[in-house]
Amino acid sequence: MHRVVTPERLAALVDDRPADGVFAVSREVFTDPELFALEMAHVFEGTWLFLGLESQIPRPHDFVTLHMGRQPVVLSRDADGRIRCFYNSCRHRGAMVVPWRSGNQRVHVCRYHGWTFDSGGRNVAVAQARDGQYHAAFDRTDHDLVPIAQLESYRGFVFGSLNPEVPTLAEHLGQARKFLDLVADQSPHGVEYLPGSMHYTFDGNWKLQLENGLDYYHFSSTHSAYMDVLQQRVQAGAAPAPVSHEAPEVPEGAGSWSLGNGHAMMYAIRKQGRVHARPLAKDPGAVDEIRARVGEDDTRWMLRQRNLTIFPNLQIVDISSQQLRTWRPLAPGRTEMTSHCLAPVGEGAQARAMRIRNYEDFFNPAGLASSDDHLMYEYLQSGYQAVAAGELQGYARGLGTGVVAQDPFGAELGLSPAGWAWGPVSFGDETCLHGPYREWMRLLRRGLKREGHA
Ligand code: FES
Ligand code: FE
Repeated sequence: MHRVVTPERLAALVDDRPADGVFAVSREVFTDPELFALEMAHVFEGTWLFLGLESQIPRPHDFVTLHMGRQPVVLSRDADGRIRCFYNSCRHRGAMVVPWRSGNQRVHVCRYHGWTFDSGGRNVAVAQARDGQYHAAFDRTDHDLVPIAQLESYRGFVFGSLNPEVPTLAEHLGQARKFLDLVADQSPHGVEYLPGSMHYTFDGNWKLQLENGLDYYHFSSTHSAYMDVLQQRVQAGAAPAPVSHEAPEVPEGAGSWSLGNGHAMMYAIRKQGRVHARPLAKDPGAVDEIRARVGEDDTRWMLRQRNLTIFPNLQIVDISSQQLRTWRPLAPGRTEMTSHCLAPVGEGAQARAMRIRNYEDFFNPAGLASSDDHLMYEYLQSGYQAVAAGELQGYARGLGTGVVAQDPFGAELGLSPAGWAWGPVSFGDETCLHGPYREWMRLLRRGLKREGHA
């Protein structure tokens, strides 16, 4: 059924009353084509998106291609070493100019009629223009590839926006910057992807991935087979015994924080458990160097389990390996994922080997955990077809305890926790999902206004 999205209908999609113990979202946000079109225009093409790492394109003329919402772009390093991002659409008749995922090319030649652009997107040749077939008024330099509206980096993470009217990247990231620091600072040389990114699709809405990366609640049920396998390996002597990286006086626990602008993170402090063992700790020399450079508190936090979500399209999971995920919505019920194994530049061989093995084990699409999650996304998307089964679904776990005024773990990082941590340190809180839905609502509301609705 085709239903136009009005401001009234939009407002009814999220029941946001935490003081009454209610935070609920309509199932339509996962299935409705009109809402999906609005999301593309006002979320994915209306705010900052994560694009990639500077270290993906280290040399002049290196490039990667990707989509921002529906729109194809090229992220490129030009001849002078500056990072550029432009639409991947020829200024002649619109063909995609760069058909590869990545590479190094001084110039990009459009396959259709041979117009040529340099690695900064500048038009350097119009085929056959010298034959006098173009009018004197035709100016080649008016036909450069069009840059995107905003492009900025933070600690080697590159972000862009198709909408010029966005706050600065620093304002947008806000307190979430600290958690990118905790990734970038794991080496004095920054962070890199390991070769071999994974691209795959699942038959579910993109917000199911966003939610899952902030959802500890599902771990023991969805991933029970994975936990059994780990236990069996230890019992069979095929895996090392559990390790602890935590000081004895620190209590075990877990929690989640909303970081503003839709960003959120969850963390766990576990004394035992192979799943929580960290590659970084395999490299004591590196840990000493980090401690000297960034101090004790940040180092301790690097060795804790952290799942970070930067709204709307970036997650970094820093546990037994490090995964960076980003996604592109293709349809209300279809999403394209890109997954990378992330690593500190120059880490030791033992740590690197552990990182790769655990990535394969847990995060790879064919690994033991991601495949469980993808199946759940498809069960969810199928379940949403049962429209009579209830319209609003709740994200209420954690609302029983109220907002925490003081969070000692946040204070360790110099962050202000007031208003964004709920309850005592507990595992499986759903309150960190509220922030992303509030930002989603804010952007769609603003979008409707721009489209001329009241
Ligand atoms: Fe690119 Fe014609 S469309 S050269
Ligand atoms: Fe999972």
